[in-house]
Amino acid sequence: MFYSPVRTNAAQVAKDENLHLFRYVEDPDQCKVDTFVAHGGYEAWKKVLNGMSADEVIDVVKKSGLRGRGGAGFPTGMKWSFVPKDSTKPRYLCCNADESEPGTCKDRVLLERDPHSVIEGMAIAAYAIKCHLMFIYIRGEFAYAIERMKQARDEALAKGHLGKNIYSSGYDLDMVIYSGGGAYICGEETALLNSLEGHRGQPRIRPPFPAIEGLYASPTIVNNVESLASVPYIIKRGAQWYSSLGTEKSSGTKIFSLSGHVKQPGNYEVALGFNLKKLIYDPQYGGGILGDKKLKGVIPGGASTPFLTPEMIDIKLDYESLQEVGSMLGSGAVIVFHEETCIVWTILKLTHFFHHESCGKCTPCREGTAWLEQIIRRIENGQGRDGDIEKIEDICNNILGRTICPLGDAAVMPIQSSIKHWRDEWQYHIEHKKCMVETHFEFK
Ligand SMILES: Cc1cc2nc3c(=O)[nH]c(=O)nc-3n(C[C@H](O)[C@H](O)[C@H](O)COP(=O)(O)O)c2cc1C
Ligand code: SF4
Repeated sequence: MFYSPVRTNAAQVAKDENLHLFRYVEDPDQCKVDTFVAHGGYEAWKKVLNGMSADEVIDVVKKSGLRGRGGAGFPTGMKWSFVPKDSTKPRYLCCNADESEPGTCKDRVLLERDPHSVIEGMAIAAYAIKCHLMFIYIRGEFAYAIERMKQARDEALAKGHLGKNIYSSGYDLDMVIYSGGGAYICGEETALLNSLEGHRGQPRIRPPFPAIEGLYASPTIVNNVESLASVPYIIKRGAQWYSSLGTEKSSGTKIFSLSGHVKQPGNYEVALGFNLKKLIYDPQYGGGILGDKKLKGVIPGGASTPFLTPEMIDIKLDYESLQEVGSMLGSGAVIVFHEETCIVWTILKLTHFFHHESCGKCTPCREGTAWLEQIIRRIENGQGRDGDIEKIEDICNNILGRTICPLGDAAVMPIQSSIKHWRDEWQYHIEHKKCMVETHFEFK
């Protein structure tokens, strides 16, 4: 079973009273319920069950400004409020722990090292939507995280944090841990629900949205691990405290997974609005570019977000700032490329991934990603033809906005932005039948 040894900035977090998600992740006993409780764990859950109504919980989370950390940034409290109040069906909460976006490895750290914080956040969310059975869908390859979550769930049940009549409140809550189907698309919330029901993991056509008709056709809320793990802190310290962190529209803290050509890759918790250049170069964070080479480009929010060039990186890491420059915060996976990276080679790797992971349900994505990979591969292999760039652009335009789920858009946005920023390099590859710069790897 493989434990993820990824670096975190827990020591820094411990010195900053406003950072919270990573406070105890380097404590090897944090996964045990007694240590978690000694560190203030389950206090927020007790506070909720000892006197807050479901509406009050939703109100606090709404006021905190917490936005989903799974990629889309949808306001969490607002999502919870979409569950119909008059529905007689059971309601379900699903924690999305599929974490398959290339470059993203933040949820895994929380699951493996602070599993009770995820359970506590899930429990509070479940209570807010009046759910009595909650699920966590964990990426199948995360064997260690699945084991840790099972141990934590069993401990929480044994100590009365889950189960029947929790803290004598009359509230019952149970939890199912589900090992994922091994496909990137199973992280898309409706494909996740299909997979959880035992069907093929393919997205559903919306509407209806899961909050109205989700798991087993009942109202269901799907939230990311990091979104849910943030909730207990909001309940404990208040909406005002949380909304004072970060920027006006992007409140709170966020974990960024920094990878690629940086000296110190790792997961870093910072307040939203943190400067991207600082994250890459500051000795307390990324520590600069490997081999002190020049920066070529950055993918700021996971493999499906458009590239930034070196001139664009003096920017705040928040939802609005990245949108303004044509990119996205996404899952917070910052992937750094230095000057010795061929852009065509990089895009080929990404396109191969999206083609492989396309579920095949809709034609533009199924066929388009295959054609894109074919054309980009021939350019990379020195067999590019005149007009190939235009053909790629045309296929991208015919995928964008025309698919059932956002995987189609995700596949084309990095390609489009790479052509926008490095068209000369694409052209060079076709004309000279080789890379303008050879790709060298010296990852640690
Ligand atoms: C192809 C694809 C893969 C996704 N993978 C994940 C994932 O691994 N984890 C996740 O939380 N959200 C993922 N999402 C986003 C989910 O559909 C959903 O928006 C999210 O779980 C909602 O949680 P949040 O509101 O807390 O962000 C993915 C979306 C798409 C289109
Ligand atoms: S966009 Fe791709 S992954 Fe999404 S439903 Fe269509 S074929 Fe499947």
